[in-house]
Amino acid sequence: MITQKNDVMEKIVSLCKRRGFIFQSSEIYGGLGSTWDYGPLGVELKRNVKGAWWRAVVHTRDDVVGLDSAILMHPKTWEASGHISNFHDIVIDCKNCKKRIRQDHLKNGKCPYCGTKEFTEGRAFNLMFKTHVGPVEDSSSASYLRPETAQGIFVNFKNVLDATHRKLPLGIAQIGKSFRNEVTPGNFTFRMREFEQMEIEYFTKPQDADQYYQQWIEERFNWYLNLGIKKEKLKKREHGQDELAHYAKGCTDIEYEFPFGWSELEGIAHRADYDLKQHSQFSGVDLQYHDQVTNERFFPYVIEPSGGCDRATLAFLTDAYHEEEVKGETRVVLKFSKELAPIKVAVLPLLKKNGDIVELAKKIKNNLQKDIVCVYDDTAAIGKLYRRQDEVGTFFCVTVDVQSLEDKQVTVRSRDTMLQERIPVDNLKKYLMEKLAL
Ligand code: GAP
Repeated sequence: MITQKNDVMEKIVSLCKRRGFIFQSSEIYGGLGSTWDYGPLGVELKRNVKGAWWRAVVHTRDDVVGLDSAILMHPKTWEASGHISNFHDIVIDCKNCKKRIRQDHLKNGKCPYCGTKEFTEGRAFNLMFKTHVGPVEDSSSASYLRPETAQGIFVNFKNVLDATHRKLPLGIAQIGKSFRNEVTPGNFTFRMREFEQMEIEYFTKPQDADQYYQQWIEERFNWYLNLGIKKEKLKKREHGQDELAHYAKGCTDIEYEFPFGWSELEGIAHRADYDLKQHSQFSGVDLQYHDQVTNERFFPYVIEPSGGCDRATLAFLTDAYHEEEVKGETRVVLKFSKELAPIKVAVLPLLKKNGDIVELAKKIKNNLQKDIVCVYDDTAAIGKLYRRQDEVGTFFCVTVDVQSLEDKQVTVRSRDTMLQERIPVDNLKKYLMEKLAL
């Protein structure tokens, strides 16, 4: 039976564990709140998401370069950025069920867990994980696990500019881990305490910033659509003045309709010149840009498209999940785009007992493997093997049968249409690479 919307999330979580996309972190010890591990297929999917992002925002543009900065940074960074004074949630405890809740997560003033209305006084809770650098644990060694990758970019602005001799507009892109001690994490990998961000800080002349803000909103919105997200599941939402972060002049979220509701995938923020000014003031290093043509010195404005890699991966997984009735049975298919599918091709022998078929199938797999991510599987009957590959989103199945030994042709089955075509073995790689646009 086709699953109802409310149960879809449960099905996805279960599929993720069963097929090796996502596991609970340190599960054998009972797990650790809101930390997750990516299994063999999950890591392929997530790498593809990061690869697609990097291609779109770095490799296919002339105005963005990459960076990989350290997670641990000088503690003054967080004073300058405002995270020490502003990066907190107001938390309260429910006097009835004793659950700790973010004040802004109350449902009509009631506890979301037990529905009562009696709470302790609200108190500010900083979301940064504190740690110590070096062997001595005193206040001078205190540091933080970064809560965003953005600050690593701001503190390297001058280094990148000096090293690349670039002119404005210039974007610096980074993918990396961030950490937040979230009060109420949840919804699988949607809100985690350790997660990965994909951030761009796009430095512009102040007068050009509004135009680039609009351009980046469109660009980032289309990125999700181009990778297969359904149009009706994606929307933009502009923040009201009361919602804006302490640094932001404007912000537009890209939201996806998960089974648990519309939720933020990415925010595109107009940060004006807040960050470079702050870091100049706190470090004493002048981070102004010198325009060689006009001879002006000024703090560039910044447009920041900031997305979560885990959230994007979860959205692609959720969007790809399909159930179809086929000959009285439910076929579960992950309809990933070509670019994101963790496995592109599976090579399957029709008869495992026939050594010649197995040998040819393995030979074909070994040859494809040099250029295409593919697997070989002979652990079940062909119908079952197809279902297994559909369930993880494998784009094509190549089946080797008795006839293949004679006519040197194999059957290529498409995941989405389930149509089958006979293709000569000699043309197979070229055929698949063209279809997969590799
Ligand atoms: N530098 C700006 C910044 O960090 P943010 O809106 O706090 O802005 C950006 O975070 C993105 O990072 C979010 O849109 C989301 O995709 C992801 N993100 C933030 N907190 C997260 C969490 N606890 N778990 C997973 N992803 C998270």
